[in-house]
Formats: sequence, structure tokens, C-alpha cells
Amino acid sequence: MNGTTDTVPADQPWDESHLSKYFFHTDPIPRLSCTDPQALQLIAQEKPVVLTDTKLCDTALKWDLDYLAANMGTERYMVFLSKNHKFKYYDEAKIKLYKTNFVPPTRRLDMTFSEFVKKLRDWKPGDERVYLQQGLNNTVGQGIVVDFLQFNWQWLNIQQKTNNWGPLTSNLLLVGMEGNVTPVHYDEQQNFFCQLVGYKRCILFAPEHYERLYPYPVYHPHDRQSQVDFNEPDLESFPGLEGLRGVEAVVGPGEVLYIPMYWWHQIESLPCLGNTVSVNFWYKGGPTEKIEYPLKPRQKLAIMRNVEKMLLEALKEPAEVGSLLRSLVLGRYTGDEAMKLEAGGKL
Ligand code: OGA
Ligand code: FE
Repeated sequence: MNGTTDTVPADQPWDESHLSKYFFHTDPIPRLSCTDPQALQLIAQEKPVVLTDTKLCDTALKWDLDYLAANMGTERYMVFLSKNHKFKYYDEAKIKLYKTNFVPPTRRLDMTFSEFVKKLRDWKPGDERVYLQQGLNNTVGQGIVVDFLQFNWQWLNIQQKTNNWGPLTSNLLLVGMEGNVTPVHYDEQQNFFCQLVGYKRCILFAPEHYERLYPYPVYHPHDRQSQVDFNEPDLESFPGLEGLRGVEAVVGPGEVLYIPMYWWHQIESLPCLGNTVSVNFWYKGGPTEKIEYPLKPRQKLAIMRNVEKMLLEALKEPAEVGSLLRSLVLGRYTGDEAMKLEAGGKL
């Protein structure tokens, strides 16, 4: 029996040739029915899982460009334009706040959905790529609202309750071109990521890979993004990359990927297979659970963020944070004395 071909569904339009080769190893993310107790257990343990049959957004499986153009309404929506295939997120508020000489890697241009569709349809190599990323709010048309109200809220509400999550904060609608890439970053919310049209490759890393992915400082407009470019990994500046190990899955129409809070993710619309449409569900994390030691990696990550924020608050000047942290640490927490303690020796 040929195990690999047997497990490929007949309607799967992609193969290995659609996946860029990277320098790190990945294992597959489990793909399970939402009725499988193992799937629910993975969500409870904050581990990623692809759910193949939630029927979460079945009414949105028809949200192709024509349907969206007819139903989104006439408002302007957020569209990002990029000279290459990467759409690295940046925080506009942090650019203003810290007045750095930051040059945004993409530009934002709000436009109507028809203007966006025209850009997509007229696109030719050499043009800027486009990616619509708009929160579903009261500006979207009635047809979209009707579909939205018929999502599988019952299933969502059960997940929210049983996992003790906070409220649903937003649903981001993402309409992209084949080949678009959202570079590796983490979000501070739980995410049910629903694929509606086309195929996306999702590569995830557990929060403990923090030291291997070198996020920008918290004050930086690229806060929560990795400084590492998977196409040009700089092992000299980022030696931790050596030990990077991920998990990945390609999601297609009707599938839902659970992206746990603080898990790193890079999301790529597969090349050559058409436009992609996704909608996500972002939930606030639960209230701080009973503290147990040793702390979980994501709790340590939250502590590090808070230390950075406190220093910034105290110093007011982002440029001073690094030098203070260095004088705090260098030779004191990096020298022989500190290493002896970490190795289990007594002071
Ligand atoms: C997310 C996310 C990016 C994309 O949903 O958190 O990073 O391109 N999405 O789908
Ligand atoms: Fe994200």
C-alpha cells in the first residue's frame, strides 16, 4: 500500500511544489473532526489543530470576489500594498508615538471593494501586490451580516465557555492574492482561523521558541513580529535559529485552524492557486489562571513584555531601554556566577 498517496484527498489541488523550502524542520499539525475528543483536548491544552468539519462559516464559503463585491457595501476598506510578496504588520500608533525614522514596508490605502477587485483583476507582474484586511463591523453590507449571523455560533460559544476564554473582540476578513505572505509574528489573542476560499500554508512555532525568533522590541512598530526573514535567515545575528522547529498545515475551504495565543505563525497564500479569502475569530485569553510553577513559556513571555513596557514608561525614551537592559544584564546575569546558579549550583 502506498501510504502517502492514499492519504491525499482526490480534490487536493496543491502538492510539495507549492511549498517554499525553509531552513527549519516542521511536523504536520493534526487534522481532526471537531467531534473527536482529541481535538477538544488540543484546544484545551492550547495546542494547534486543524478542524475539518466545524461548519463554522459554511454560509461564507460563497464569499468569492464577485459575491463580496456585490455584498460588502460601498464603504472604504483597509488595503495594504507591497512591492514584494511580504505583508509585515506595523503599528501606526507606535510610529507616531516614538517618531522614529521607521519606513513602513507596505503602504495602506483605503478603498472600496470594487476598487480593490479592479486592482486584483488588473494586476500584472511588477505591480504592487494587494491584501485587504478589514475587521467585520457595521460598515459591511446586509448580505454579509446575514451570512455572519448564520455562522456556527453555538459551537463557538461552547469553545469559548469550556476553555474559559474572554469575549470575542473582532473578526478580520482577509482577501489576498496567491503568493502573499504574512511574515512570522504572534498575536495576544486566541484565534479560530477559518479558510473560506483558496489555500493557505500556516507555519506555527510554540511560544518557547521566543529566543529563536528574536521579536522586535515592544516599543518598535514591528512589535510582536520576528526580525527573522525565513527567505534570508541571518544565522550570525540570530544563532538561535539553528534550533527552530515548527508545525504546519495547509488549510482549504471550510477548514478551521486553531492558532493558540502567543504561538508564532507565518501564513502564506499558496502560489498559482488563485486568490484567498479567510475570516478569523479573535478572543481575549482567559483570566489569569491559578499560578503554578514553573511558569508556562507564554506566561514568561507576558512577563518580559511587561518589563519592557515598564522600562519604557519609566524612561519615556525608547532609545534608552536597550542600554539600561544591557547594563542590568551583561556580566551580571550572563557571567559565571549566573551560569553556576542556572546549572543548579548553590551561591
Ligand atoms: C491571523 C493572521 C494573516 C493571514 O489571523 O492572526 O496572522 O495572512 N493572519 O491570514
Ligand atoms: Fe496573526
